[in-house]
Amino acid sequence: MNMKQILVVSILMALVAVVVVKVYPNYPSGKLGVLFYYCTSSHEDRREVKATSAGVAGLPLSSDTQISIIIHGYTESSFRVWILNLTDALLVAEPGSLVILVDYWDLVTISRPYMMANTRQIANTTAQFIDLLVEERGVRLSKIHVIGFSLGGRISGLVGDRVKSGTLGRITGLDASYPWLPPKTKDEFLDASDAALVVTLRTSTIGSYSPPGHIDFHANGGHIQPGCSTWYLPKTGYTHASDWLTTP
Ligand SMILES: *[C@@H]1O[C@H](CO)[C@@H](O)[C@H](O)[C@H]1NC(C)=O
Ligand SMILES: *[C@@H]1O[C@H](CO)[C@@H](O)[C@H](O)[C@H]1NC(C)=O
Repeated sequence: MNMKQILVVSILMALVAVVVVKVYPNYPSGKLGVLFYYCTSSHEDRREVKATSAGVAGLPLSSDTQISIIIHGYTESSFRVWILNLTDALLVAEPGSLVILVDYWDLVTISRPYMMANTRQIANTTAQFIDLLVEERGVRLSKIHVIGFSLGGRISGLVGDRVKSGTLGRITGLDASYPWLPPKTKDEFLDASDAALVVTLRTSTIGSYSPPGHIDFHANGGHIQPGCSTWYLPKTGYTHASDWLTTP
């Protein structure tokens, strides 16, 4: 795509995004910026936690606690049903674990023109949060599993690059997106260098551009699923997962 096409698509997506948040029932109205919530099996509701020393001091965890961090995608918020369901499933699968939800809905959905800068800010804040968990609560990075969907998958790669206390234990990229414009450095997308274990799940064309992790699942070939519409973003023509496979 050329710059003009990118501009037109960006403006259209911004308009769609505004309509989506207006009709969308669960956006966290009134709260803006990068927000963190935590969930445990011992209380029903999520609770907000600030990415500060005082914030992490109040978290119910020990250095052995398994922590899952979920990062939503473009036009989404942490109140999406799939995130609520995944949170419940993780708390059942890992009794005593902690689930942290990252929410940034306004920074990308309404602020589309600042999406890349805001994406970096979301990643930086999340990495600082993780560093606080390690430095102030003794959490081991091997116990941290970041799960990101679409743009959130890409952000999880940025988080892996920005964590200063070491290497993240695990990242799962669910159809992690890849920049439209050719990225200058590897720290703009998810790749196998971002965590000790990077697992990717690819179910759509959008998710097929990012480079491989350590383990890659290509559901039904990874481009389109039975029963789904053929809607997909235009090909950028830069990189495709299969090209990465031949690149050392
Ligand atoms: C969420 O869980 C409910 C209850 O198990 C299920 O009916 C629904 O399909 C799930 N929705 C999503 C989006 O996962
Ligand atoms: C994010 O952190 C990186 C270094 O880790 C820094 O270079 C960059 O300026 C920061 N960006 C924002 C938006 O805070």
